[in-house]
Amino acid sequence: MKGLSTRHLIGIKNITADDIQLIFETADNFKEVINRPIKKVPSLRDITVANLFFESSTRTRVSFELAERRLSADTVNFAASSSSVSKGETLLDTVNNILAMKVDMVVMRHPAPGACVYLSTRIPANIINAGDGTHEHPTQALLDAFSIREKLGGDLAGKKIAIIGDILHSRVALSNVFCLQKLGAKVRVCGPPTLIPKHYGALGVEISHDVRETLRWCDVANVLRIQLERQDIKFFPSLREYHQYFGITKQMLDELDKEIVIMHPGPINRGVELSSDVADGPHNIILQQVENGVAVRMAVLYLLAAGN
Ligand code: CP
Repeated sequence: MKGLSTRHLIGIKNITADDIQLIFETADNFKEVINRPIKKVPSLRDITVANLFFESSTRTRVSFELAERRLSADTVNFAASSSSVSKGETLLDTVNNILAMKVDMVVMRHPAPGACVYLSTRIPANIINAGDGTHEHPTQALLDAFSIREKLGGDLAGKKIAIIGDILHSRVALSNVFCLQKLGAKVRVCGPPTLIPKHYGALGVEISHDVRETLRWCDVANVLRIQLERQDIKFFPSLREYHQYFGITKQMLDELDKEIVIMHPGPINRGVELSSDVADGPHNIILQQVENGVAVRMAVLYLLAAGN
């Protein structure tokens, strides 16, 4: 059986195009499983997974929990706010205490970039990064690319994908760039100059500050949330002005001479990066992304466990 080239999923930067294709092929099978009347398979019976969330989450946390249950794994859920972290325990002590209870795999979201790679060199369990600060969110990028492949009916090579919005504070942007480039897509980031980090120029992506021209260029626009909780200074004058210059509206999509696909990883700031008629409209595949997240996470859990 083919396997992944890694025993952790820390970031897309560290995996190969073959790994991504294997995850997609495995997720195709699991998507079929979760659409059956009986949605469960015994693949991870006797495996225990700890979901450690040191930061808020709706989609990723629920999606991992469902993926683990569909695979018949035992799960424990940990939220930092109600744990002994608030009494001053270190991350490593917290995780080692959880692992002492015979946990095999760790899914972790943490506000510090690099928290997962730090743990991966110190603990014996497999680690899956569920988002580390502004660094990477690998399973989001995998489910995004899987959803594009499904919507466009195959290979992403040569497809034009725009990532629009708050690139500076986004872990989704960086993981998407690595994933889409490994699959041969052409990638452009678009947003106000203050929200595009200078180092993106060195990643081999196009950079634009013109959202209308970017919509004309792309086949798919992945629109990112303005992350106000990570902005301690003002990066643009007001949300109203951001929407006026960079928000995607139905009128902008109607003015194009072609159909494009709109994506958003969620949660959405309605009326900021997307108007409600786009967030609820026929161009977007936002809920398909969420559905695909369960199958993709089942694939990642299954393949990492198989590597043991
Ligand atoms: N897309 C995403 O990571 O959403 P959550 O923060 O709700 O998990």
